[in-house]
Amino acid sequence: MNLKEKILIETEALTFSYPDGVRALEDINLYIKKGEFVGILGANGSGKTTLLRLLNGLLKPAQGKVRLEQEDTRGINRDALFSRVCTCFQNPDHQLFAPTVGLDIAFGPVNLGLPKDVVRARVEGALKDVDMSGYDNRAINSLSYGQKKRICLAGVLAMGPEVILLDEPTSSLDPMGVNAIMRLLKDLNKRKGVTMVMSTHSIDLVPVFIDRVIVLHKGRIVSEGTPREVFSDSKKLSDAKLRLPRIGELFDVLRKEDGLETDNFPLTVGEARIELKSLLNL
Ligand SMILES: Nc1ncnc2c1ncn2[C@@H]1O[C@H](COP(=O)(O)OP(=O)(O)OP(=O)(O)O)[C@@H](O)[C@H]1O
Ligand SMILES: [Mg+2]
Repeated sequence: MNLKEKILIETEALTFSYPDGVRALEDINLYIKKGEFVGILGANGSGKTTLLRLLNGLLKPAQGKVRLEQEDTRGINRDALFSRVCTCFQNPDHQLFAPTVGLDIAFGPVNLGLPKDVVRARVEGALKDVDMSGYDNRAINSLSYGQKKRICLAGVLAMGPEVILLDEPTSSLDPMGVNAIMRLLKDLNKRKGVTMVMSTHSIDLVPVFIDRVIVLHKGRIVSEGTPREVFSDSKKLSDAKLRLPRIGELFDVLRKEDGLETDNFPLTVGEARIELKSLLNL
């Protein structure tokens, strides 16, 4: 398989300005391969949400192109595009619209023309996945913000899409919920090959779950690569107003301030454990 065949989404010289003239993205050239788990990092206002909305066709490029399997998304029927590329919005109040949880999650599968019993099974399965079984009949407006975030994700999962675009899916979730949702996404990605593109401010999650990172700063891509590659360039990281994962920060300080001599650069608890065991001869 050559690289072209593996590319699911790509952009070419993508530029976008909002109607009031704010230039949100400038000359974005990126690719997302099938089955990848890609992270979009960047400070507030760097263009992450705008980029995800261009990738799913909700916004139209001012210049440049977005392609899904080499086809310009402007030429793809809206419903066909939305059933293949599903988005979990940053703000759940922009996504949920039905009176109850069950009706909201069922909306997509019903629109796909699936039979009633399949829709039912998808709703139940999705609620179980986000640890909210039994919430079918609850009114959307009676849910907490974190619960609404979970229901948004359930609605996306129930569609069974090829690609899921996630705009800060873990913000406002409790700590155990963050882990559970990230493990669920990673499992879907690994087991079913669902391609994931996720914007996040949760830097510590990145080296644990993400294959490749794209860093935005003021609407431009300023860095790209594996988490290790991106986190190794501290200048680019601080220019983009990002920081290292806490574990990486600790080892950085130990090296710079305390003379720790090691060529390894742990970024996760697991990597730090191996490094410390070796340093302490455990
Ligand atoms: N509806 C809009 N109208 C005008 N400008 C907008 C609109 N939405 C976003 N912008 C501007 O576009 C730029 C990119 O915003 P965007 O929401 O994509 O950033 P972001 O990286 O998602 O930020 P955050 O981390 O806060 O979610 C910002 O300068 C923002 O002020
Ligand atoms: Mg955003």
